[in-house]
Amino acid sequence: MCGIVGAVGLISPKEYVFKGLKMLDYRGYDSAGVAYFNSGIKIYKDVGSVEHLLTIVPEEIKTNIMIGHTRWATHGSPTKLNTHPHISFNQRICLVHNGVIENYVELKKFLLGKNYSFYGETDSEVVANLLEYYYLEYGDIIETIKKVMSEIKGSYAITFFTDDIKDTLYVLKNASPLVVGLGKGFNLVASDASPMIEYTNEFIELEDKEFGYITNDKVAIFNKAGKPIDKQAIHKDVELISHDLKGYPHYMLKEIEEIPQTVNRLINTYFQKGKYQFDKNLLKDLEESDHIIFIACGTSYHAGLVGGRYLEKYNKSTSRFIASEWAFHPTYPGAKPFIIMISQSGETADLIHCLKIVKEHNLKNLIITNTGGSTLDRNCMYSLLLHSGVEVSVASTKAYVAQVTLLAMLAGALGNDKQVVEDLRNCLDVVHGIQDHYKPLIMKVAEEIKDKKSVFFLGRSFDYFLSLEASLKLKEISYIHSEAIPGGELKHGPIALIEKGIPVIVFITDPDTASSMRGNIEEVKTRGAKVYTIATKSLYRSEDTMMVEDYAYYLSSVAIASIAFYLAYYVALAKGLNVDKPRNLAKSVTVE
Ligand code: AGP
Ligand code: GLU
Repeated sequence: MCGIVGAVGLISPKEYVFKGLKMLDYRGYDSAGVAYFNSGIKIYKDVGSVEHLLTIVPEEIKTNIMIGHTRWATHGSPTKLNTHPHISFNQRICLVHNGVIENYVELKKFLLGKNYSFYGETDSEVVANLLEYYYLEYGDIIETIKKVMSEIKGSYAITFFTDDIKDTLYVLKNASPLVVGLGKGFNLVASDASPMIEYTNEFIELEDKEFGYITNDKVAIFNKAGKPIDKQAIHKDVELISHDLKGYPHYMLKEIEEIPQTVNRLINTYFQKGKYQFDKNLLKDLEESDHIIFIACGTSYHAGLVGGRYLEKYNKSTSRFIASEWAFHPTYPGAKPFIIMISQSGETADLIHCLKIVKEHNLKNLIITNTGGSTLDRNCMYSLLLHSGVEVSVASTKAYVAQVTLLAMLAGALGNDKQVVEDLRNCLDVVHGIQDHYKPLIMKVAEEIKDKKSVFFLGRSFDYFLSLEASLKLKEISYIHSEAIPGGELKHGPIALIEKGIPVIVFITDPDTASSMRGNIEEVKTRGAKVYTIATKSLYRSEDTMMVEDYAYYLSSVAIASIAFYLAYYVALAKGLNVDKPRNLAKSVTVE
């Protein structure tokens, strides 16, 4: 999922490369490196952050050409040797790679047979050597790239330079994103447009199996047959990604506190003058479909679980799938299925895989995303944007609430039910109430659970869906094992795990299931659990931990999700962990 940047012709490529790496470290941040040409290929790389890398590179770098990489390891642990850029055996090729080379083992064997040796374990180093091997054989770099692309299988966005052509960066891509930025007297490349936007707003997006090269005054792109193609530059005014913390200590906290304005913005965007504002064709296609399939990953999948229920309320038949499951067993019941994909980033590889299948079968589809211009936004039939502003923290918070809000409104539009908008507006008071009054209490609970080995969340129906999200958030950033259990399932197995002192966090907001949930509380208390109950005013009992104002219970994931988010945040904080960049994760999961 790594981030790639490259520049030719800039007076100060170091500035661009480092700023760019910072902007792309949402794609991976376990190690980072740069390479440039200055009487020979120079490489600086190390485990750790881009800030750390900056401390080990020379202050002044004189060069015409530079590449950089921030890594999320797929092959080989995050060590200095495995960090990109990689250099080939005879020091002729220097490369950065994003993706996974599926047949790297065979290719490595082939090269070992040709007396090549390797210093690291990555699939990427194999490609550097394969490029060198054929370059030495053919003496022509374009022929070399064509040959290598015919041999490597898998996903790749690759940028490299050679030791003899010192003014040219080569680019090749399949399934991982790569964008060229067009400048005057310079040209750039990056995994997405964001690092380049300060320098240009003219871009060329490479399609799968395309390759080419950039110099300071030329960009040449070829199709997979090796024919030069005239690609139209696209003009994109990408919103500048603001990395301003606005006084907050962490992005996660800032983003949780942006939830009310996120919900408000969605209401004002998709409901105006007393009417829902959705594309009429989209609504017609949804109405005419006989089955709606939600596909997403992680937090976005949790939003899909809620969204499915919303549509069912208006008599639509639905099913929900985790993208990586659906991709290998795609089912689409009914004569007219409609696919709804949900993705904060719009770049999730598992979903992009699903979209290929969706297109092969000509199924109508919609993406709900926070990222205009992303792969899924560009390639789906319909797109609804979340307008939540960039979400920097790896743990998704405001985007989740936005996804649920938008799904509630879309369902409301289909069911011609304007009460949904009123219910959403009422939620805002609840969210503000939590922000204004409950943080100290949540911090106290966080202190109590921070050293526990396991935490359970219990709920039913919408509170169960919220429990799933609460549990994912806690484990993601606090590294505490956690499970969400539907109240009714407790007796069917999970109760065996309940022992003295284990924290069980219970949501009770649905009048229809409240008494059953009270029964569940007794069951776990009897076995020694320490129960923390969050209940709405009309269902509250004096022994509960937190009382929140009443709201339309189907909106739990809008009204009270921030309780779960604050809890995860304060636990991670109390444990002294890196809240915004938890270990092993990345903001945008661009490998399957
Ligand atoms: C959320 O906190 C997680 N980091 C993760 O589960 C995320 O929701 C998932 O990877 C899906 O990402 P997407 O919404 O960008 O597709
Ligand atoms: N497979 C390469 C590595 O592990 C690139 C990883 C990626 O793009 O996520 O270094």
